[in-house]
Amino acid sequence: AYDASPYVPEGADLDELRAAAADCHGCPLYRDATQTVFGEGAPSARVLLVGEQPGDQEDRQGHPFVGPAGRVLERALGEAGVDPGETYVTNAVKHFKFTVRDGGKKRIHKPPSLREMAACRPWLAAEMRLIRPEVVVALGATAGKTLLGPSFRVSDRRGVPEPFPGEKPELWRHVMGEGRACLVATIHPSAVLRADDRDAMYAGLLSDLRRVADALR
Ligand code: URA
Ligand code: SF4
Repeated sequence: AYDASPYVPEGADLDELRAAAADCHGCPLYRDATQTVFGEGAPSARVLLVGEQPGDQEDRQGHPFVGPAGRVLERALGEAGVDPGETYVTNAVKHFKFTVRDGGKKRIHKPPSLREMAACRPWLAAEMRLIRPEVVVALGATAGKTLLGPSFRVSDRRGVPEPFPGEKPELWRHVMGEGRACLVATIHPSAVLRADDRDAMYAGLLSDLRRVADALR
């Protein structure tokens, strides 16, 4: 089975994890991507933000959320009053999955499969174990499925803080201990960019992220 576990060093700090993840072959996604894009932010972050996977820009630059979706996220976090110094930003899957169009010029994002999400989960678990966040933010369906299981749907529970680990304790309890944290689910910021009504989508994202700011007070 696909599995990153054999590549995750025990007792490593975040920098050591990042270095080890660069050589992960836990699933086939490393083959076509440029590089592993590991999480970044404060090791003592109170908020762990989980996206889907690196996009085209992130894959080229090697850093999470540095493309168009990242700019939406940065603006929304700022407006919601979440201090960037208290955040750590990562992805459910750490390699870019894409198909090629227009004779190789355009790389089109493809959603990761459940198998790829499960394979990559040990990296997220290792990040979470070190950071021990107070609030976990699931940005979109892939993050939600990775954190809460495959039946997760954004529309069912967005913007409502819930105890974490919650209904899928077997996935995260060993990482987080007994639930002192909460999880807030929202849309993926790239959904704002794809929407017909961008203002309404953005307003929804902002409203959900205000719940994160509330939880930190
Ligand atoms: N979308 C994501 O989910 N993650 C990134 O890092 C960039 C875009
Ligand atoms: Fe490893 Fe995750 Fe990349 Fe797959 S996507 S190779 S599990 S880091």
